[in-house]
Amino acid sequence: MLILFLTITTLTAIVVLLSFAITSFQAERSGAPFFPTPRKYIEEGLRVAGLKKGEVLYDLGSGTGRVLIISAKQFSARAHGFELSTLFYLISRINIFLSKAHAKIYRRDFYRTDLSEADVIFCFLVPRGLKRLEKKLENELRPGSRVVSYIFPFPSWQPTKIIKFSDSKKAFVYFRN
Ligand SMILES: C[S@@+](CC[C@H](N)C(=O)[O-])C[C@H]1O[C@@H](n2cnc3c(N)ncnc32)[C@H](O)[C@@H]1O
Repeated sequence: MLILFLTITTLTAIVVLLSFAITSFQAERSGAPFFPTPRKYIEEGLRVAGLKKGEVLYDLGSGTGRVLIISAKQFSARAHGFELSTLFYLISRINIFLSKAHAKIYRRDFYRTDLSEADVIFCFLVPRGLKRLEKKLENELRPGSRVVSYIFPFPSWQPTKIIKFSDSKKAFVYFRN
C-alpha cells in the first residue's frame, strides 16, 4: 500500500514538474524568459503612457503579476495578464489574491489572443518576440492606444518617448495613431 502511494505521489510530482518545465520552455522560446521589471520602472512607464482609471491594461507575458497589481491598485486600471508558463501563472494568481488587486490573469499565449480591447500594452520581451508582435499590434490596436516596451524597442516603430532609467535600462513608449 505504501509503495503504491509513493509511486503515485512520485509520478504526480514528475508530471507537475514536467508541465512547469515544458510551459516555461515554450514561453522562453516564444517571447522571453522570466525576468521581472523593477516596480519603480513599471510605475514610471505606466505614468508616461498616461494609464487612466478604468482603462484596459494588458501585460503580454505577465510573469508573477507585478505589472497587473500596480496597474490595478495604483492606477485603478482594468488589468489583464497573459502568461504561458504554468508556474508563473500560478504564482501570479497567488500574488493577485494576496494583494487583493482587481486584476485578471489568463494562462494563454498572447500571440493567439485578440488584443484590440487594450488601451495600454506593457511588455518586457526579447527582440525576436517584439518583431513577431509588431504586425499583430499594428492590425489590432485602436487609435489612441499606448505601448510600453521595457529594455528593448520594437524593431520598426519610432518611439514617442524614451525613458532612460540607466545606461542599459530604458523603456520605449509608443502612442498609436
Ligand atoms: C521578461 S518576463 C516579464 C514579466 C512581467 N511582464 C514583468 O515585466 O515583470 C516575460 C514573460 O513572458 C512570458 N511569455 C513569453 N512568451 C509568452 C507568450 N507567447 N504568451 C504568454 N506569455 C509569454 C514568460 O513566461 C515570462 O514570464
